[in-house]
Amino acid sequence: MATYLVLHGPNLNLLGTREPELYGSQTLADINAGLAEFAANVGHDVRCLQSNAEHELVDAIHAAKADCAGVLINPGAFGHTSIAIRDALLGVGLPFVEVHLSNVYAREDFRRQTYLSDIALGVITGLRANGYRYGLDYLIEATSEG
Ligand code: DQA
Repeated sequence: MATYLVLHGPNLNLLGTREPELYGSQTLADINAGLAEFAANVGHDVRCLQSNAEHELVDAIHAAKADCAGVLINPGAFGHTSIAIRDALLGVGLPFVEVHLSNVYAREDFRRQTYLSDIALGVITGLRANGYRYGLDYLIEATSEG
């Protein structure tokens, strides 16, 4: 049994009411519950955290080094700005998958670049909440021993 850290960045606490045409209608609680169930069905668990504060995300990544097998992260807008989150992920050396609910390539130009994509196992963008599940599935396959 392994634990996976699921991180949600700024404004993702508003899911469900925030621009549903871009982000879908599921709430963050719905997404986290779905991921916990998915992980439990294959004998693993998740620790979920949403924060609007960059340092809390950095601290959670540091703490994950002690007991997590990998990280699933939707960095929100911090993906486009945060060298600190990039450095935290590099610093702990945990494998991670980057997820975006919306298709960042179909939006403003500034969303096309993230500080995480080139060091992620992979990036899933535009598949709404399904992307989290696909990402966790892959992360488990890539990191667990069966
Ligand atoms: C997002 C895409 C980001 O560009 C945006 O700043 C978000 C959400 C997504 O899930 O599609 O907050 O990460």
